[in-house]
Amino acid sequence: MKATLLALAAAVGLAATGAQAQGNYPQRPITMIVPFAAGGPTDVIARIVGENMSRTLGQQIVVENVAGAGGTTGITRAAGAQPDGYTIMMGHMGTHGAAPALYPNLKYDPTKDFAPIGLAAGTPILIVAKKDFPANDLKGFVEYMKKNGDKVNMAHAGVGSVSHMTGIYLSSVLAAKPTMVAYRGTGPALNDLMANTVDYMTDQIVNVAPQIQGGNIKAFAIATPQRSPALPNVPTTKEAGLDGYEVSAWNAIFAPKGTAPDIVKKLNDALLKALDDETTKKRLLDLGAVLPTASERSPEALQKLVDSEVARWTPVLKAAGATAE
Ligand code: MLT
Repeated sequence: MKATLLALAAAVGLAATGAQAQGNYPQRPITMIVPFAAGGPTDVIARIVGENMSRTLGQQIVVENVAGAGGTTGITRAAGAQPDGYTIMMGHMGTHGAAPALYPNLKYDPTKDFAPIGLAAGTPILIVAKKDFPANDLKGFVEYMKKNGDKVNMAHAGVGSVSHMTGIYLSSVLAAKPTMVAYRGTGPALNDLMANTVDYMTDQIVNVAPQIQGGNIKAFAIATPQRSPALPNVPTTKEAGLDGYEVSAWNAIFAPKGTAPDIVKKLNDALLKALDDETTKKRLLDLGAVLPTASERSPEALQKLVDSEVARWTPVLKAAGATAE
């Protein structure tokens, strides 16, 4: 009898410690893996929301950039981390939407191997080019691409990245076959665009908006139904005469599968506070991000988004024959 009571006490003690640890979570800094180079859109969103989340959580969210393979290297690492709330990641429409279609041997399943935390930002896609590109509007770009689509080079952040998948989508609409130049993120790609050493790319607004506003690169169009308040002079693809190219990306926070529900809730609460914080909101909106609506902000809503995005992009990308392996 005594042994049973001792075992029971030990079990309760462990459970209490576990619960207590979760109850006091976080007790130390949290690593947020960003699967692209510093300075790109995913990194920028991670650092903006992470800064405010750190204040709410009382522990620093430390961004770790783990680039490679279109973001799948970093996400694979994060998926395998301890589900203790101390490793989270910023994924997106590429890593958690396109990757299964492009990487037959992908080491994770976006729909099963994560504890979704919440959507951080929608990111409209723009068609941008170096200042020396021989076209000054979308019509001119389309005409140039029709004649020279196999002589230009298109920057992207690795097979399966948002810039890659939206780039091959544009190539299929234009029936162009550009040389694809891979970077460890569209931060470095943008540097080459500004240096006129790469011709064009399709990228997320939060990365390219400042350089468009600064006149350092050309923006031919934004691929959303409406113009962005952050870039009121950039026409939509439809306005500028290119039907059939509409796409917007998204970035979201995930934890490894098995992360305790009360830790998931604490992280989601901190993300919601960040998205409601005036300074954080302004920083995201000034870069052209689209803030998630109330119904889009829960972990359950993110799970549904990932499920639908994998289902949406898999046939599209397989039809485009765009595989990484
Ligand atoms: C991409 O998918 O293109 C990435 O978000 C680029 C980046 O964040 O550097």
